[in-house]
Amino acid sequence: MQYNLSDLLKLMKERRSLKPEKYSSRKVHREQIEKMLEAANWAPTHGLTEPWRFKVYGGEARKQLMLFCAELYRKFTPEEKFMEHKYDAFLKRAEKDLNVILVYRKRDPLERIPVEEEDWAVACSVQNLALVAAAYGIGCFWSSGKIVFSEELHAWAGLESTDRCMGLLYLGYPEGEMPAGKRNIWINKVEWVE
Ligand SMILES: Cc1cc2nc3c(=O)[nH]c(=O)nc-3n(C[C@H](O)[C@H](O)[C@H](O)COP(=O)(O)O)c2cc1C
Repeated sequence: MQYNLSDLLKLMKERRSLKPEKYSSRKVHREQIEKMLEAANWAPTHGLTEPWRFKVYGGEARKQLMLFCAELYRKFTPEEKFMEHKYDAFLKRAEKDLNVILVYRKRDPLERIPVEEEDWAVACSVQNLALVAAAYGIGCFWSSGKIVFSEELHAWAGLESTDRCMGLLYLGYPEGEMPAGKRNIWINKVEWVE
């Protein structure tokens, strides 16, 4: 065995989605993010199209992104469903010293493989990124949904028409211990066919 399997499995089990509201003030450094992005770049990719792309927002740019998300939340939420605390969460994220990564898929210009496969490759790259984050003890929260998939955010981020915004990734150390994860046992999801 070339690698320590129990360490690997432990890392995968301890990787956590942690929302920015649960972050401590401990800073995530650029060098750490660079390692995450290096790992992301080693995701599997059919036809070597390498469709994953990342925009790392920090400082004033992050602030503007979060304020824009707040306004999109207001725009997309019917009045009776609007929750002030959800809107405020974006305003608070604007003020926090955190990095937010916008992850998107760049379509192969020759369209050699089905577009879904390029989306899946991007998802694999996010998993690589999140595992490196976990190795540092950093939580990585993948946020998707209406705002992320909106034409408005697409345009704001300067994506091209054939790009697909796939998520916003928030990174941060937990306040105290990283929470425990929860999964149903794998055995029940597997059928051995002979
Ligand atoms: C493609 C994808 C999109 C996700 N989008 C959201 C989201 O919009 N909001 C959210 O609360 N969690 C989102 N999550 C994170 C899940 O909620 C999280 O993985 C789940 O709660 C299990 O927690 P764990 O990752 O810490 O094990 C997303 C996860 C994936 C893979």
